[in-house]
Amino acid sequence: MRATVAHPRAATHALRCVHCGATQVNAGPVFRCGQCSELLEVIYPERTAPPREFALRLKEIWKERKTSTLAEDVSGVWRYRELLPQVESRHVVTMSEGNTPLLPLEKAGRTLRLSRLFAKHQGMNPTGSFKDTGISVAISIAKAEGFSSVCCASTGNTSASVAAYAARAGMKSIVLLPAGQVASGKLAQALEYGAHVLELRTDFDGCLKVLHEVVKKFPACLLNSVNPYRLEGQKTVAFEMMEQLGWRVPDHVIVPGGNLANSSALGKGFLELRELGLIASLPKVSIIQAQGANPLVRTMRENDGRELVQVNAQTRATAIRIGNPASWRKAVAVLKNTGGACEDVSEEEIAAAKAELGAEGAGCEPASAASLAGLKKLVRSGFVKPGETAVLVLTGHMLKDVDYMLQAQRRYSAGPVEPDVAEVIQRLEQIDAGN
Ligand code: F0G
Repeated sequence: MRATVAHPRAATHALRCVHCGATQVNAGPVFRCGQCSELLEVIYPERTAPPREFALRLKEIWKERKTSTLAEDVSGVWRYRELLPQVESRHVVTMSEGNTPLLPLEKAGRTLRLSRLFAKHQGMNPTGSFKDTGISVAISIAKAEGFSSVCCASTGNTSASVAAYAARAGMKSIVLLPAGQVASGKLAQALEYGAHVLELRTDFDGCLKVLHEVVKKFPACLLNSVNPYRLEGQKTVAFEMMEQLGWRVPDHVIVPGGNLANSSALGKGFLELRELGLIASLPKVSIIQAQGANPLVRTMRENDGRELVQVNAQTRATAIRIGNPASWRKAVAVLKNTGGACEDVSEEEIAAAKAELGAEGAGCEPASAASLAGLKKLVRSGFVKPGETAVLVLTGHMLKDVDYMLQAQRRYSAGPVEPDVAEVIQRLEQIDAGN
């Protein structure tokens, strides 16, 4: 049945401080509150349509768009444009982001005694990570505002995404990376897409700090997740996930945490769906960090989320090697609003979970595997109970960090074999026997 009512207009929006609640219309170069300098979030004050009617209409509109060939309908982000800031079509920069698979994880689900376990594989985005959903929205707004250059600091994935979308938009991209701390796949992407890459002798937190000062004096739009439009794109993963689940809310959604924007966006997406009456309850959104880069875990443990505890971050899951996360206040609110847990996992637990996901055909990068490692811990602690349903958000593609995999997979180091049938068969028999 086609929707017979007029399409609701995309919402006009405002920016509200997550700390003092002051609202403002313009963001300024660093996207901070004019009163107290904290982060801003996008709100939609005019979105007051009667919830039930609005909800039913939206579900139908979104479904119909899946058969359209219009670029904005094909996008798994802009398809949900009624819940995004309004952007004119000519400014929308899209590469059909979103549209990622929800893979059942039957083996892991059985082992953990869950009734259903899925992986929402955000590594299947155009540049291989969830960043594309957020960058599509943030760069479209930058384009509408007349910027010709965009910039970011990154542990790698944001830089690949910013570089690709800037190339599509005909804009210049500038990326600051922590020297020697970025997986080679990600660095290669940024270079190939034509970014101006500067490697700084510091960590991610140091790069972001420098960039904050740079954009006050240099005309490039900051596309790090302090830019609240990033989260608007990233929240659509909640919408797409719910459509894929037939609007049945899972008990748990589990996501790795670094700078803490993705978990914040996911939570915002679910909260908006509930506010609009599209879902009746919320999943518990849990955030998993590496033990060596666990500022949110410590913040929750040591002061219940009141004051950020910064750490000197170390982990081989380089994507989440972050000690001073910008969006920590937003993430704390998500944990509190959804009743989620916050856990950290060891390097060994991440490696084991990554190998298990690979063995189930759902390979991902190390940071993403923290979600499965965390789920196991939450099952052990009883926070996730037998018979419940859960979705892991796999944030990045397995090919992003090939060195990590080759080091982890001992099978590879057995060395080459002579091109001789008998020798190949002998080696296969040894493998079969588990040697
Ligand atoms: N997983 C992957 C693969 C990531 O690249 C990141 C962040 C995260 C998880 C954590 O998400 O920061 O929103 O909590 N990568 C950023 C980057 C920091 O620069 O690519 P978060």
